[in-house]
Amino acid sequence: MSWINVCSEANMPKGTGVAAWVAGRAVAIFNLGNDGLFALDNIDPASGVSLLARGLICEIDGELCVASPLYKQHYRLNTGRCIENDDLVAKPFDIKTEQGNVFVLAQS
Ligand code: FES
Repeated sequence: MSWINVCSEANMPKGTGVAAWVAGRAVAIFNLGNDGLFALDNIDPASGVSLLARGLICEIDGELCVASPLYKQHYRLNTGRCIENDDLVAKPFDIKTEQGNVFVLAQS
């Protein structure tokens, strides 16, 4: 496993997601400002489509979530677990910033 520099923090839009190519897979990265950075596999487990970065951000019972644009399931940003269906998980990735750059921990 290794940390991959995906972009500079200054170039990340706040309050929404972007997709980045990390070691051969699309990762959805969400910049929620003071609430932090989150990274999930961009593939929506319910549909198999690579689109979670395009989902709306919301809060459910105090947990930050992204709503899939396709079937609208909500995935917790910190764990990737689906609110509506315990069997669905969008794989979470470790993410950090260093000296103004955003890094995602690539997994094999
Ligand atoms: S996007 Fe409307 S409640 Fe989650």
